Amino acid sequence: MSTPIPQPPGVPLLGNIFDIDPNNTWASLKKLSEKYGEIFQIKVLGQTLVFVAGAALAEELSDEKRFRKFVGGPIVEIRYAVHDALFTAYEREASWGIAHRIIAPELTPRSVSERFSEMRDATNELIAKWKTLGTNNTISAIGELNKLNLEATTLTLYGKKLNCLDAPEHPMIKGMEDSTSEAMKRPTRPALLNWLWYGGKFKAATKTMRAYASELVQHRKANPTERRDVLAALMSAQDPETGTALTDSQVIDEIVSMPIGSSTAPALLATSIHFLLKNPHVIVKAREELDAVVGSEELTYAHLADLKYVEGIVRESLRLSFAAPGFNIEPIPKDDDKSPVLLGGGRYQIAHNQAVIVVLAGVNRDPTVFEEPLAFKPERMMGGAFDGLPAGVKKWFGNGKRECIGKHWAWQFNMTVLAKLITEVDFEMADPGYELEQDGWFNLRPVDFYVKVKPRAS
Ligand code: HEM
Repeated sequence: MSTPIPQPPGVPLLGNIFDIDPNNTWASLKKLSEKYGEIFQIKVLGQTLVFVAGAALAEELSDEKRFRKFVGGPIVEIRYAVHDALFTAYEREASWGIAHRIIAPELTPRSVSERFSEMRDATNELIAKWKTLGTNNTISAIGELNKLNLEATTLTLYGKKLNCLDAPEHPMIKGMEDSTSEAMKRPTRPALLNWLWYGGKFKAATKTMRAYASELVQHRKANPTERRDVLAALMSAQDPETGTALTDSQVIDEIVSMPIGSSTAPALLATSIHFLLKNPHVIVKAREELDAVVGSEELTYAHLADLKYVEGIVRESLRLSFAAPGFNIEPIPKDDDKSPVLLGGGRYQIAHNQAVIVVLAGVNRDPTVFEEPLAFKPERMMGGAFDGLPAGVKKWFGNGKRECIGKHWAWQFNMTVLAKLITEVDFEMADPGYELEQDGWFNLRPVDFYVKVKPRAS
């Protein structure tokens, strides 16, 4: 006998519309996951939405023999900007496999390691800028790290120095913000209103992002190079399986998608700074490790593998920030079989075609897996303790074949930036009473989190 999936009471006709804040959907889902636990559902205008917020069910949904990525809602909306790119392609579209086989070789740990010095030097530039700000500065952690991320992404993947660290915010950052916020909100509004009232914003943001990408293509054409990077692959590689190359428009689609994906990294790092400030003993321990491993040398790629405690900080920040807040799964359709899909050994059942949204705020803090799930403890993310954790709580990069293609880039970037910041900078909360609040669209970042930065006291 299956148990009904818990659901908040709701109101007649409109259902659970008031349980979700369209301006901060993920905060509403976090709250619901705290109340209802491993699984819950809501009904909005007759449509059922199911959410999984527990580790065991998340692991079950990771079985690629039974489930696959669901391309729906906001992901379909953002196709207006990037069409059938990696992140947005439907299962049936051959373009996913073609682009994946063309891009993946440029994002292996080895390929990404060749870009280490570019990442580190961009981070050094940001720190050097901060050192000129004087003692009484206040900066937005996410604002500064968004700039660093765009600078590093553009340089490492596309070979162009944007020089955006010390400049007003690059238009690409607002383009990504506007397009992703619009993609999240459109499914909640009547189509006519989207078209009449909000179409202009979506169009303008798309134009900005595609102009950023076109300039990179033009720059490469005007400056031919032997450099092997993602842009080189996009523009000239052929899929080894089919011999197909990407069209000019697909090249732009993929160039735009990568910074949207990588903007999760600064969201993670900004939240990590908050966790560090709330846990000063972690900074002390990380500095002991950094002093022992790196000492007074400049950080190199070889050091990263020995920074196990810093890696614990990155992983614990991934767990508690849920910087990528979730992902969507659906049962793999079976010909003519419309019987319900059972979850949890029959404990729950969902319709054969029911999409499920995995809410990482619930999964990553599952109290059946973690003692003191809200505490920030890098030690549990190291060595045997980390290896022993169930697979369901390590889904911060998504799952299976649609797992994040930038995960090695993200690991290297997060490790490099955190190692440099912890080594060289003392942060202080601008408002000592600040408590973490998050919002976001395709990623979650701290709201109104300002810090003062100073060179590390000797
Ligand atoms: C901390 C950093 C990051 C996190 C937590 C993260 C998380 C994720 C997650 C959860 C997915 C799966 C989405 C889904 O199933 O719908 C995903 C996919 C993706 N990510 Fe990331 N990501 C990060 C950084 C990056 C970076 C640096 C890039 C680019 C260099 C990137 C590019 C992508 C792309 C293109 C996809 C779609 C892959 C596909 O479907 O084939 N991400 N990411």
